[in-house]
Formats: sequence, structure tokens, C-alpha cells
Amino acid sequence: MTLILAIETSCDETAAAVIQDGHLIRSNVVASQIEIHRAYGGVFPEIASRQHVFDIVPVVEAALADAEVNWADLQALAVTRGPGLAGSLLVGVNTAKAIAWARGLPIVGVNHLEGHLYSNWLDEGGKINPDAILRPSLAELDAAGEAFPLLVLVVSGGHTELIIMRGHGQYERLGATLDDAAGEAFDKVARLIGLGYPGGPAVQKAAEGGDPKRFDFPRGLTNYANQPEHRYNFSFSGLKTAVLRQVRELNPEGGGELPVADLAASFQTAVVDVLIAKTARAASALGVKRICICGGVAANKALREAAQTRLPVPASIPPFFLCTDNAAMIGAAAHHRLLTQGASGLDFDVEPGLTLEMLA
Ligand code: KG4
Ligand code: ZN
Repeated sequence: MTLILAIETSCDETAAAVIQDGHLIRSNVVASQIEIHRAYGGVFPEIASRQHVFDIVPVVEAALADAEVNWADLQALAVTRGPGLAGSLLVGVNTAKAIAWARGLPIVGVNHLEGHLYSNWLDEGGKINPDAILRPSLAELDAAGEAFPLLVLVVSGGHTELIIMRGHGQYERLGATLDDAAGEAFDKVARLIGLGYPGGPAVQKAAEGGDPKRFDFPRGLTNYANQPEHRYNFSFSGLKTAVLRQVRELNPEGGGELPVADLAASFQTAVVDVLIAKTARAASALGVKRICICGGVAANKALREAAQTRLPVPASIPPFFLCTDNAAMIGAAAHHRLLTQGASGLDFDVEPGLTLEMLA
């Protein structure tokens, strides 16, 4: 049995988890800073890193206590080294290094995107999580040789990427957003139509009572004949501008009432259409065995529904609590990295601009 203590502080969540054998969640503690950043309408980097300093030790201690393990039971440390906010990453990396050095344990620096991907490898010990889409988990499919080649759609606040994964540690990026990430578009549009932060859950809630066909917003880079080189790339800035233009047209003086539900539903439908269309194209063209969707936007209910009905290959999507940032996913990624590449050594640094290809 291997037990990894994982730490994640790349943005505004201070998180620690204990992961057994690369897939079993023994504990998963997340201290969210959402309430603190809400006043600023987004993450305030300096405040985020200070809050990580306050929270990191109690969060790590809680992760050990919840898992009912002691320091002596651990075999390795895992920590997010990038991408993310430099000041935030530093808190997690320095904490993990200090523990690794004091306990004489190996440490693995993990790419946050690789973490999101491995959220699909996690399980809760035979308990079927009703929120998870498609069991068996990727860990079980992998064990049966049925996971690869795997098409991965990472949709978070900072990234929107389509990646083909041919095995552990083997990534090839097919495409990515040329401007805003999908989650960023949700956050910006939420602000435009007067909804709070974080925008994704607020837009989703507002969209529930709305008419998704009322506004015909653009589906960026879906003119495949004219722009074949962008068939797997994304662009959400035109969509954001179209929403802005619509808001101004509906409410030229400002201060008036907006049809928020219809705007939210029409916007959300446009995002989901593009994400699903490009994922479906890539899956068919590349003949993958499986699709995996991960990152904060994978928590979106409309996307989850569309993924179950409009994709040519079954898609795995983790339960809601594993879509947004957490340390369990970092522990799962570290387990495979340890097996394929070994530990990182104590001299690695944070890498705010790290990409997945830099690991391949
Ligand atoms: O993965 P994540 O927690 O952090 C990053 O690595 O960026 O993703 C956060 C993003 C935010 O932009 C948030 O608005 C979005 O995920 N998000 C959602 C939903 N829940 C979170 N977007 C759409 N629908 C949701 N239900
Ligand atoms: Zn994330």
C-alpha cells in the first residue's frame, strides 16, 4: 500500500489529501477562499498567497487526521508546481519540500492540468458517487487496458485544451483556446450580466429558467472549411463581446432590468455547443477509446448532459467535488509520475506558466 500526501495551492483553494495506491481517496480537505475574493470580483493574487500561509498547516493536519494516518505512514509528498499564481504556488511547494526534507520522503512536483486529468482516476473505495458520470473509473479501465488512447478536454478557469493521451505521461496537445478559457468566459459574462463570482455556478443557476434559443450567440472557430488549422482550437472572446453588445442593445442607458436568465442560457448553450462539437470531431477523427472531461467547467450540468448524449465515445467526468481544484487529483497524478519518472528532488521550483507538453 502506498500513501501519498498531496498539496494544492495554485490559485484560491488551499487543499491537502491523502491518496492510497494512486486512486483511493483517504481524505480530501479544501479550504476555499471564494468568500474572501468575492469582494474583488475575482482572485486577488497577493491576498490569495497570504491566505494560503494561514491555512496550509491546519489543512495538512486535517488531511492526515481525516485519513487516520500518521506522518510515519506516508511514502511520498506531492505538490502542484504550476501552472498557477507564483505566490500561491510557492506556499504549497515550500510546505511540501519542508515536510519531505524533515521526514526524508521523496517529493513529486505535479502539473496542475495533469492533476485535473487524473481526477478521473479517483474513487472513494467501492462507494459509487451518484454525481460521477460513467463508471467504471478510468483507473479500472486502465487496469483492463481499455483507457488509451484517451481524448482529454480540460476546461478550467485558466485553460481550455484538447489533449490526446496515449499512455501515462504521454501527452500531445491538439488545440487550445486562443484567448479566454471557458471558465474565464463564464466568469466575465457573469460580471457583464450582473451575476456574482465565481461566474460558472452563477450562470448555470440563472440559466435554469432561461430560453437558450433567445439569443443566437457565435460559436467561435467552428467554420471548419475556412479555418481547418483551428479545428481543435477554441475562442471565447467573440462570444463575450457578443454578450456585451447584446446587453448594451437591451439596456442602452444602463441600470435597467436585463433578461438575465435568457442571456445566461443562450451564452451557456453556445459554450457547451463548441466544447462538445470540437471534442466529438477529435474523438471521431482520432479513433480514441475514451473521452475524459475535467476542470472546473466540467461541473457544469448542461455540459455534463450534452457529454452523455452528443459524443461518439463514452466520456468520463468526475463527481462535482473533484472538478474544481483539490489535492486528491494531485496525489493521483503523482502516483503515476512516481512510477514512470521517479521523484523530483528538492531543487525544483514553481513554474507559473507550465504546460502539459513540458512534461511529455
Ligand atoms: O479548475 P478550477 O477550479 O480552477 C482552475 O484551475 O482554473 O476552475 C474554476 C473555473 C471558474 O472559472 C468557474 O467559474 C468554473 O470553473 N466553474 C464552472 C462551474 N463551476 C465552476 N463553470 C461552469 N459551470 C459550473 N457549474
Ligand atoms: Zn484547476
